[in-house]
Amino acid sequence: MTHPLDQPADPFDVARQAADDIARLTGVAHHDIAVTLGSGWGAAADLIGETVATIPATEVTGFSKPALEGHVGTLRSVRTPAGSHVLVIGARTHYYEGHGTRRVAHSVRTAAATGATVMVLTNGAGGIKDSWQPGQPVLISDHINLTGDTPLEGATFIDMTDLYSARLREIAREVDPTLDEGVYCQFRGPQYETPAEVQMAKTIGGHIVGMSTALEAIAARQAGMEVLGFSLITNLAAGISPTALSHQEVIDAGREAEGRISQLLAHVIGRIA
Ligand code: HPA
Repeated sequence: MTHPLDQPADPFDVARQAADDIARLTGVAHHDIAVTLGSGWGAAADLIGETVATIPATEVTGFSKPALEGHVGTLRSVRTPAGSHVLVIGARTHYYEGHGTRRVAHSVRTAAATGATVMVLTNGAGGIKDSWQPGQPVLISDHINLTGDTPLEGATFIDMTDLYSARLREIAREVDPTLDEGVYCQFRGPQYETPAEVQMAKTIGGHIVGMSTALEAIAARQAGMEVLGFSLITNLAAGISPTALSHQEVIDAGREAEGRISQLLAHVIGRIA
């Protein structure tokens, strides 16, 4: 069967259908904030508030099965103690899966179509700064998109100044004043970077290397959302670390830091919501 986003249909219409599915399946007509949980951040879903409904992403128009163990394929509607509705997205489509940027952007566009005006993007990523350690969460201050691609179609000129909202970063630092921040470089993947690529990222101003967030942030800005980005440094980037990288190391670092960073994320969301 062809995928709805592979057809000439308008991707924003598909996102509106997906938002209608979410409203019907969760019974929550409107969400205020959305958060995508990357590796290491999954426990936050239980800490943000009371889960109103959990639905398999595959029941929502345009969402794909998760490609990876460690990536949860559900969408949850959570109500914060203050009564805000948070859409928790545990189903990310990565660019490296090769299905194109429409599918990558779909969860963000769907979040916007549910009414969310803030998009919180989290990921597990490699760290370049000398002072960082695996297991440390950092804020994303800006990005460099090295994929050579974009979720925007046509002559869509969109301002990217302050893409990662200074206002929201300030709120995050009120919750945890020790939070450092850095520039996220998105590589296509799925191979990890070579040490030379990491040196290039460092030279051009990058501090974090990953495979997910820049394209999603662009789509969020296009949809008019305010963006907050967090990376969990799961490992020192290739060549910064003296040892080889492994996917298992990334998963283990995520598991280990999960409780702590999920609490941080839940507190920050509680302040925004
Ligand atoms: N590079 C790219 N993506 C990643 C890394 C990395 O070192 N660690 C976790 N995701």
